[in-house]
Amino acid sequence: MKRKGILLAGGTGSRLFPATLAVSKQLLPVYDKPMVLYPLATLMHAGIRDIAVITTPDDQAAFQRLLGDGSTWGLSLTWLVQPRPEGLPQAYTLAEGFLAGSPSALVLGDNLFFGASLGPQVERAPLGGATVFAARVRDPERYGVLVLDDGRVVDMVEKPADPPSPWALTGLYLLDGTAPARAATLRPSARGELEITDLLRTWLDEGALGVEQLGRDVAWLDTGTPDALLDAASWVRTLTVRQDTVVACLEEIALARGWIDTDDVLERADRLGPTAYARYLRSLVHR
Ligand code: G1P
Repeated sequence: MKRKGILLAGGTGSRLFPATLAVSKQLLPVYDKPMVLYPLATLMHAGIRDIAVITTPDDQAAFQRLLGDGSTWGLSLTWLVQPRPEGLPQAYTLAEGFLAGSPSALVLGDNLFFGASLGPQVERAPLGGATVFAARVRDPERYGVLVLDDGRVVDMVEKPADPPSPWALTGLYLLDGTAPARAATLRPSARGELEITDLLRTWLDEGALGVEQLGRDVAWLDTGTPDALLDAASWVRTLTVRQDTVVACLEEIALARGWIDTDDVLERADRLGPTAYARYLRSLVHR
């Protein structure tokens, strides 16, 4: 069975209030495009084109204006709503019908990954069991943290006051087809949410949780605070301007994979008007 994608873009974005009072966090721009397009690019780089997008009921229409049915990029998008943000594992109870037993890649709509080695790493991962991606960070207390022993996961703890290691659990999870059944058995934590670490622990207990440390070429950027968001945007801008490129250009990924053709790219460029982005799209065709 082929791996399907889940893009979780719910939540209230309360840590960014007032910026996110009227707009979903995952629709805020990161330099030249909405945040959610970056994790979508991450799934596409792994060859995943059958994707469920989960939003709040209020924000769904705005996400649909941006992404439609996904055919612009040769994707098939399924739209699901998360009525209340009750934790990441809820994505799996909501997506159970969509997955229909398939293995999946869950990516959080506010997680930005850049770097060529990640897509192949995801494609190579086994379809059975669970695989997580760890990134070394200076502020692990803000994330789920992994305890590793000789490259294997020994334990996990969600936002520990005293982090046991610098290895943060990134928001990209590869889970086998049993994920919805496992999510259904979870109970809310002390903060009243279902925790991704509790879901992952069900595989850890069976010795079936693998970890991939992100390659040195892969950057994992944060968007959780106004400063982090601005840093991410500057980072994208620096690459974009210096290399005269577009970072996380969905049309470019889809074209390279043969999911769309050059006429589709030119049509898209016309739709985007006199922008640097459209100019870049034309340059992909007229090389
Ligand atoms: C969630 C997970 C955490 C993970 C993080 C990655 O945290 O609970 O384990 O490290 O995403 O972005 P949240 O963003 O919901 O605080």
